[in-house]
Amino acid sequence: MSDKRFYIETYGCQMNFADSEIVNSILLEEGLKPVKEAEEADLILVNTCAIRENAESRVWNRLKEFRGLKRDNPSLTVGVLGCMAERIREKIIDKEQLVDLVVGPDAYRDIPKLLRDVDDGRKAVNVLLSLEETYADITPVRTSGNGVSAFVSIMRGCDNMCSFCVVPFTRGRERSRPIDSILGELELLSEQGYKEVTLLGQNVNSYKTEEADFTTLMDRASLVDPEMRIRFSSPHPKDFPVDLLHLISERPNLCNYIHIPAQSGNSDVLERMRRPYTREQYLDLIDTMREIIPGLTLSTDIISGFCGETEEEHQDTVSLMETVQYDLAYMFAYSERERTLAHRKLEDDVPEETKKRRLSEIINRQMEIQEELNRKEIGSEHLVLVEGPSKRSDDQLCGRTDTNKMVVFDRKDFKAGEYVVVEIDDATSATLKGRALRRSSIREYYGETVSA
Ligand code: 5AD
Ligand code: SF4
Repeated sequence: MSDKRFYIETYGCQMNFADSEIVNSILLEEGLKPVKEAEEADLILVNTCAIRENAESRVWNRLKEFRGLKRDNPSLTVGVLGCMAERIREKIIDKEQLVDLVVGPDAYRDIPKLLRDVDDGRKAVNVLLSLEETYADITPVRTSGNGVSAFVSIMRGCDNMCSFCVVPFTRGRERSRPIDSILGELELLSEQGYKEVTLLGQNVNSYKTEEADFTTLMDRASLVDPEMRIRFSSPHPKDFPVDLLHLISERPNLCNYIHIPAQSGNSDVLERMRRPYTREQYLDLIDTMREIIPGLTLSTDIISGFCGETEEEHQDTVSLMETVQYDLAYMFAYSERERTLAHRKLEDDVPEETKKRRLSEIINRQMEIQEELNRKEIGSEHLVLVEGPSKRSDDQLCGRTDTNKMVVFDRKDFKAGEYVVVEIDDATSATLKGRALRRSSIREYYGETVSA
């Protein structure tokens, strides 16, 4: 087995990308060799997403393309990992014969054994969910990414049971990774020159072990390396800890940017979604955040056309977005998922065209808001962490402000991984453009305020 060449393709959220790095590490440990193209591989693994129907369709289409490769190369093994594996189980092997291997999100340690089963002509499926697995002892091997920013998963699963969401079924119960293992990974990343880490979980403010809660974890994480920025995604509005807001405002390397999914701006829709907060409570939280962290930027997730959503309820979402003035938003049309409470108890009754129309209204309004907010940045100065060349030109670099805005500027002699002070001179809804003034550091720019 050890001379096999493998290729992993990843769909979905940042958590899936982090999981692929764990799988990568497990396969390297077994002696398999990574390759960059599916065509060169003996083993193709697709790490899948089941959150919306179109995410699943993309994966199905890709698997059908791989069937072509299997015809040319009968010894090719194709495997499905992650959230779809959990939903589809044996079906995917028996009915479609598209794949040889199905591995759920808590069973990655079993991949070497399952590969041996495939080689022996046995059915290779493990979709068992676990109450404990956090892969704490496996150091992810980072093959993708820019060498500057990394994702670190701090917990797995979700116990919230929002009525639209399949995650509790595909990823199982919530469990938190021990703090020492997280801090150890951050230290390693710092030694390797990483300058930004995003702590990941389906619901990060539920992070809890005997040793620490989420605020304690953020406190300790920020002290690992004062030049390493710390971000996190995603928290839940129902119990966002106020002490964390104070910590963020005090520590220069804890970023002044929070992704705080609203899902809807109407309290009745939120109740049907089983989101335990009202529009007013959400807005109060936003006010508190902005009081404690001046200059904070915010982003959100919104679902358009959820079961029973009326035109007025939809307008409440538009008005929530106008009131909050998000710097970024991820917006989706509602997609019914099997096993969820909404699938069992509510009717998916907003017609497809209405969902699409409401979604475009929301997107268009959000683009206008973003452009207005970004144009207000013209003339301001930001400390930008350089990520690498810009998409358009090698003569330009791009990087993010502490507030998570993408900035593009002329390269000069600056490099990826450096902090550069940039003066903003132009803006679109998606990007700021600026002039790099000088190299700097978090401590130099904000002053020495971090102490252990
Ligand atoms: N339909 C549409 N969007 C969904 N999300 C989760 N489930 C669904 C669904 N069934 C969105 C939510 C969540 C984000 C990750 O995906 O907005 O915050
Ligand atoms: Fe899904 Fe809600 Fe859990 Fe997020 S908090 S993963 S939306 S169930």
